[in-house]
Amino acid sequence: MVSSKQIRTEFIKYFEELGHTFVPSSPVVPMDDPTLLFTNAGMNQFKDVFLNVGTRPYKRAANTQKCIRVSGKHNDLEEVGVDTYHHTFFEMLGNWSFGDYFKAEAIQWAWQLLTEKWGLPKNRLYATVFAGDDKLGLEPDEQAEHLWREVADIDPSHILRYGVKDNFWQMAETGPCGPCSEIHIDLTDDCSGGKLINAGDPRVIEIWNLVFIQFDLAQDGKLTPLPAKHIDTGMGLERICAVIKHIDELKSNKPASVSNYGTDLFVPIIQHIEKLSGCNYGSGAKNLPDRYDSNDCENIVDIACRVIADHIRTLTFAITDGALPSNEGRGYVLRRILRRAARYGRKLDMRDPFMYQLIPTVIDIMGDAFPEIKEKAEFVAQTIKAEEQAFGRTLDRGLEIFEQVANGISAKGEKIFPGDEAFKLYDTYGFPLDLTQLMARERGMTVDEQKFNELMEGQRQRARSADKQGKSAVIISDEIELPATDDSAKYNPDMQIQGKLIGWVIDGKWIDDGTISAPQKAALVFDKTCFYAESGGQVGDKGKIITSDAEFIVEDTQKVNDAVLHIGQLVKGALSVGQTLDLLVNKNIRKDTMNNHTATHLLQWALREVLGGHVKQAGSLVCDEYLRFDFTHNQAMTDEQITRVEELIIEKIDQAHNIVITQLPIEEALQRGITALFGEKYGDVVRVIAIGADDAENIDKAFSKELCGGTHISNTASIMDFKIIREESLQTGVRRITAKTGRKLRELMHQRYDLTVELSQILKVQPEKIGERLTALMEENRKLKKQIQQGPAIDITAETQKLLDKAKKIGDVTVVIGELPHVPVEKLRGQIDWLRKKTDTLIAVLGTRNDSKVQLISAVDDKLIKQGVSAGKLIRQIAQIVGGGGGGKDHLAQAGGKLPEKLPQALESAEKIIRDALEKNE
Ligand code: SER
Repeated sequence: MVSSKQIRTEFIKYFEELGHTFVPSSPVVPMDDPTLLFTNAGMNQFKDVFLNVGTRPYKRAANTQKCIRVSGKHNDLEEVGVDTYHHTFFEMLGNWSFGDYFKAEAIQWAWQLLTEKWGLPKNRLYATVFAGDDKLGLEPDEQAEHLWREVADIDPSHILRYGVKDNFWQMAETGPCGPCSEIHIDLTDDCSGGKLINAGDPRVIEIWNLVFIQFDLAQDGKLTPLPAKHIDTGMGLERICAVIKHIDELKSNKPASVSNYGTDLFVPIIQHIEKLSGCNYGSGAKNLPDRYDSNDCENIVDIACRVIADHIRTLTFAITDGALPSNEGRGYVLRRILRRAARYGRKLDMRDPFMYQLIPTVIDIMGDAFPEIKEKAEFVAQTIKAEEQAFGRTLDRGLEIFEQVANGISAKGEKIFPGDEAFKLYDTYGFPLDLTQLMARERGMTVDEQKFNELMEGQRQRARSADKQGKSAVIISDEIELPATDDSAKYNPDMQIQGKLIGWVIDGKWIDDGTISAPQKAALVFDKTCFYAESGGQVGDKGKIITSDAEFIVEDTQKVNDAVLHIGQLVKGALSVGQTLDLLVNKNIRKDTMNNHTATHLLQWALREVLGGHVKQAGSLVCDEYLRFDFTHNQAMTDEQITRVEELIIEKIDQAHNIVITQLPIEEALQRGITALFGEKYGDVVRVIAIGADDAENIDKAFSKELCGGTHISNTASIMDFKIIREESLQTGVRRITAKTGRKLRELMHQRYDLTVELSQILKVQPEKIGERLTALMEENRKLKKQIQQGPAIDITAETQKLLDKAKKIGDVTVVIGELPHVPVEKLRGQIDWLRKKTDTLIAVLGTRNDSKVQLISAVDDKLIKQGVSAGKLIRQIAQIVGGGGGGKDHLAQAGGKLPEKLPQALESAEKIIRDALEKNE
């Protein structure tokens, strides 16, 4: 049997022999392309070459690329696992020509590899070509059609034309694109599949796509011809392996069940799932609950195995390459995938985290071709396990709720699963919408998506307005049109400017004429300002706006569309529209804030140095008091890591690096590896903050480079110092650091210093010895507490000896009666034992008391029991006197009571009872 490893190697070798350079796969998480969620094709890493903004030292390349397709143009998560030939993660074999060979060679070489080297039956192969498109203004690809006849001996009736949907390839909504020619294979038993091409039927599938890259697609849908023509081909390794595995059946027209999941890329994973769950893959429909009426769900066990096998590969590779499950963007895609797999795991009765256990098997299969998954194995396993545990906590309850609601709907004969229930499952139980939709589909229902979306939007708005309310007294709807403010002066170091008052917002209304007088809350808008409005995590400026006789205190600055709102109170005088005023930012607050902002960049850099490249910004808050930075990482940081991060940052502060600020076209910035926030919309020209470069020409040398619109100091020395105050978990896979810098840190340090001095005076030790002293005191304290609980350290036996000395002899019986200092009851028992050893025939009644209770114990020698004397009876009688009760055996009994003051009386009466009993027997 030909292995997948062999097929991968043969492909590369075949093209190497044709002058192609082998290029390793790029990461599945594209670090430098915000238009792309995940690497979705082999050509992604060559995008710059196609667009003529980058070059390579070779003109022909071949590789096998790790790809993820989950949503968007190229895949539908819904289908994965239901059929046998779609995946969220797959390997794409490809060959490229960068302005070198074109259609003829691409077609000929593909045909030869498939039919001559690998021996695929020609009668089962079809080639599709582009049929042209009026809207795009493109002609049918007659050239490709013609070449297929000329350079390949394909049956001419197997060359077919298709439109844009099938035969025009584009990477995303924008970017390089062109007509393509696809090779499909007919897997039907009798070679009758010609009509099933592009019909989504598993019996006729596409195996290789040859793209003739010629255009750049713009946002507005316009195609611009590229300076050169390129070849970009892609063949799914999993599919070609599945086909080659069944080549003999295909050649002899015998039924062949071709499935990607039957190849050595998947079989060991599925076997591992069988072992973990005890299920049987391929066991037919017998595990099917009655209600699965849809054809799609013919065998839920098989689907579950395929889904899990597919998804664990995706998670392993994506997390290895730096993505992490989270609540947005790329991270949410991973979370959805993981939750989909977890839910299918429940279908196989797997209740504990199981996905992470499959990772070693994935590594066995793929680790040689992609060694990075070996290196990151432990980190990936921890991440996946933590996610599984987190979702596991709400999954069962969510499933129960889903069942209840679905049953209710079925009982009514309805088929719409309510949007508010889907929202509740999302919001409270962490069910992604597509998971609820999947479960609904299995029950023949659809989710009311519109209602769900309305509720989502409502939640978003509430969050936004709660955010705003927290920050400022002025709320204004985004819909009100306000004049734009020129705020370019916000970067000016003098932090003051004169501006013309255009109007104000009071009670949510925009007013642009008249006068206001103090006292008045308002949000003022000027033609220009030097105030920084909150954005990118940096808080809005505070300050004053003044004339010779009026003063407005700015408490916060916010942007609404393009207007900068100076929010605060007019405390003195009056202001009129049209008036020119002095705008003065509070420089101390701003300077502290700038220190913290630059320090945040240093922190992001240091975290990556110490924890690894998977660290990504997940949120931040920069104000004058402190900075807060949220980042992707799945474990608490150790003390050593925290210290190391602080050290690295302090080193950079001490080295007094200049901050270089420059503007670059976005494309160039991304290409130069500048850190951007995923999902953030950037303009054509971006502002770059670089630390560690001498000037704008050398920003590539900078150790920290980020796209950022915030305000920064000019040299790291101004930060003075850096200290992490707190490190905590924010949500699964996201940590939060709170840190201080500069003057605020100095204030804190002084306070702490004074506190140390005070403590050292109180404890009368040197500051270095405070810890030691406190530990000793605490230990002493612990011991003392224990002693108090145990009672005073008295020599209880000596006390008992005193009672024994005073004991009465009645006949040959020694009667010991008396009170002992307060001791726990166990000690009383110990004294009884001691007395028994000291005497021949003993009757004893011992009592002990504290402020609130009394304990009594009595003992009678065995000889006397025969004469009818009983410790139990005795104790019951005297316990009544102390307001309690008790009992026990004839030879030993104990009792408690609530009246300590009655103890002497009880003991007296004990003596009397004993005397009576003994005398009776005489
Ligand atoms: N880019 C094309 C595809 O993804 C061919 O590699 O199908």
